Amino acid sequence: AQALRVALAGLGTVGGGVIRVLDENRELITRRAGRPIEVVAVSARDRAKNRGVDLSRFAWVDDTASLAEAEADVVVELIGGSDGPALALARRTLAAGKGFVTANKAMLAHHGLELARAAEAAGQPLKFEAAVAGGIPVIKGLREGAAANAIARVYGILNGTCNFIVSKMEAEGRDFAEVLAEAQALGFAEADPSFDIDGVDAAHKLSILASLAFGTAPAFGDVAISGIRHLLAADIAEAAALGYRVRLVGVAEADAHGLFQRVHAHLVPNDHPLAHVTGATNAVVAEGNFVGRLLFQGAGAGEGPTASAVVADLIDIARGEFGPPYAMPADALATSGAADSGER
Ligand code: HSE
Repeated sequence: AQALRVALAGLGTVGGGVIRVLDENRELITRRAGRPIEVVAVSARDRAKNRGVDLSRFAWVDDTASLAEAEADVVVELIGGSDGPALALARRTLAAGKGFVTANKAMLAHHGLELARAAEAAGQPLKFEAAVAGGIPVIKGLREGAAANAIARVYGILNGTCNFIVSKMEAEGRDFAEVLAEAQALGFAEADPSFDIDGVDAAHKLSILASLAFGTAPAFGDVAISGIRHLLAADIAEAAALGYRVRLVGVAEADAHGLFQRVHAHLVPNDHPLAHVTGATNAVVAEGNFVGRLLFQGAGAGEGPTASAVVADLIDIARGEFGPPYAMPADALATSGAADSGER
């Protein structure tokens, strides 16, 4: 069968990981996808940088947005940023009638509806499993697995950097600034770490989950956000004395008045599963009216897990399995605060 040809934008941690996953698991991926998945062209900032992968077998494209016109079926975008080259590449790729796979939660939080419309108009996939909670298949879980349910609430630990910091402050009684430096050294923080610690990254991801759970267009501006910058070791100790742990949690819930989305430090009772999520882990809970309470947990960042999610999207596309990017066609998504609580 004909290979699915992939053009890859961005060769950082995740981009390198995608090449490694496709190389190392080539045979089983080909069997599962029903045809080979081949990276044919790549683009990144620095051609000379050693990434531990052989790039000589790919065409190199200097101008990232021009990857949209490469001889490929799908473009994978792993450069990040809500606007700029990532958005230009997304628009040009879909306009060129090709599929688009992205890990870019910021771009989807701000431009998700526009891009979904463009993908549907082109009859092409727009897929983003890697954009929320890294390796955890929570997009598929909500979009496909829980598709029969009205969802009352979706919430979770969506930023590994914050969870690393908070759980380390808790275990070691240490202060925020000291632990932040360690989290950054581990390499899962955003390029701008304020996106992590101020709750922005979690809010990007929450707006995407809310869209899937409630049938709304992703709307970053609708999320009330506060981060963990001002959290003290003493706050955590006091919470512990009362039987709670502190976690940065994003919550989206619908009631008769609409959809509410917020990210802030929560007191989580010791007997709740989120209280036991420590380190750079993510966990998402969704409550459906037939399936009950679902818990998704795993690695929310890092090379292997995030690349695993990107390649899962490519396998779907190779199989021809894709529908509208969100839970329903873009034109059926509600905008500005209304929610699909099963009545609409
Ligand atoms: N900075 C993010 C985190 C990376 O710490 O969770 C994954 O989106």
